[in-house]
Amino acid sequence: MRVVLFTGKGGVGKTTTAAATAVFAARCGVKTLIISADPAHSLADALGVRLGPQPTEVSAGLFGQQVDPRARTEQSWRGIQDYLVTALDDLGVDPLAADELTELPGADEVFALLEVRDQVRHGPWDLVVVDCAPSAETLRLLAVPELLTRYLSRLLPMDRRIARIVAVARRPGWDRKGAEGSGLPLPGDGVVEAAERFATELAGAQEVLRSPSTSIRLVLTAESVVLAETRRTWTALAMHGFAVDAVIANRLFDGDSADAWRQGWARSQHQVLSEAESSFAPVPVRRAGYTAVEPVGVAALTELGEALYGPAVPEAAAALLAPPSPPDLFAVERGDDGFVLRLQLPLADRDDLDLGRRGDDLVITVAGRRRVLALPSALRRCQVTGARLRDGVLSVRFVPDPAQWRSL
Ligand SMILES: Nc1ncnc2c1ncn2[C@@H]1O[C@H](COP(=O)(O)OP(=O)(O)O)[C@@H](O)[C@H]1O
Ligand SMILES: [Mg+2]
Repeated sequence: MRVVLFTGKGGVGKTTTAAATAVFAARCGVKTLIISADPAHSLADALGVRLGPQPTEVSAGLFGQQVDPRARTEQSWRGIQDYLVTALDDLGVDPLAADELTELPGADEVFALLEVRDQVRHGPWDLVVVDCAPSAETLRLLAVPELLTRYLSRLLPMDRRIARIVAVARRPGWDRKGAEGSGLPLPGDGVVEAAERFATELAGAQEVLRSPSTSIRLVLTAESVVLAETRRTWTALAMHGFAVDAVIANRLFDGDSADAWRQGWARSQHQVLSEAESSFAPVPVRRAGYTAVEPVGVAALTELGEALYGPAVPEAAAALLAPPSPPDLFAVERGDDGFVLRLQLPLADRDDLDLGRRGDDLVITVAGRRRVLALPSALRRCQVTGARLRDGVLSVRFVPDPAQWRSL
């Protein structure tokens, strides 16, 4: 099953072009589901129909669904949160603050993703189109499965942690009250089970994102500020190992207009477009014009889809469902005196790049976004001896650290 996620800066037309893609696909005979992960329910408005938390038929072969992240949060997170709030309460943390603290970071996005996973596993679809929230949130969404697993393992006093707390409580010289007041209450079996279930769900969601049949389309309008943000999103996506298979330039002005104001816009858009093309090559930049009226409803979206992809005929289905080229973003090779870790960071600027080592992790910061990369075990006992960024590839040299090898 092919999965395509749409993202981009706010208001550029993500929902509209995602819907146009889904409508187009259904027209070509592809059984399609479009899911909105954006809490601003604009997918239903764009399609001109009502949508609910279950897939609803929109037109022949096209179904739409508006994920209700709150309901899923209740299902998966509530038990864990209740435990955490109680634990913090025992430590004297104000219950209101405890509630805030135990809100799940990026919860809406995670649960939208879980819904996508369920549909990928059990749904009858050939294609699932996901209308994401604006870029920053989407990046968070894509990163959260990893973050969340860490977050959970810190918060939940599993095995080792429990042992330590019990040891502290039993230390001589502690009176009972002190001992009780110092440790967290042990989580019940139910909480641990819920956490384990949740970790499994997250792994499933990440599986969808990492699948070779999942790709991302970046939507932009041809303005320099928007292009700049899209380039940053692109770099960050590359760092996470996600495949971008198309860029969509939306709301383009017609250059043939007699009107001077419109001509001016058409000229500047043309320039931004050619910059976009050279930035993202070999990924194609598909184009959609500024329509005369708001493109709302299946008929208008079909037209927009044809502007983007060509005639909606059954022969176009194969191209829609073809797997994206795999991203080749991350590799470790043997070098002369150690290893070289290569990371493709297309468009990354040397001045924007910062590299650091924190224990077993490599911390890469590009344009203010941080990625903590857990190093493969061979590299953990090595020292970083140099780094180079050339032609969009970051190479980090690692040399075995004699002190660490000897102590083994
Ligand atoms: N090609 C287009 N021509 C004209 N209006 C468009 C076009 N694409 C989108 N719009 C309009 O622009 C507004 C924002 O689009 P939307 O898809 O909701 O953006 P996003 O999802 O990125 O926030 C909507 O009113 C939509 O109808
Ligand atoms: Mg939207």
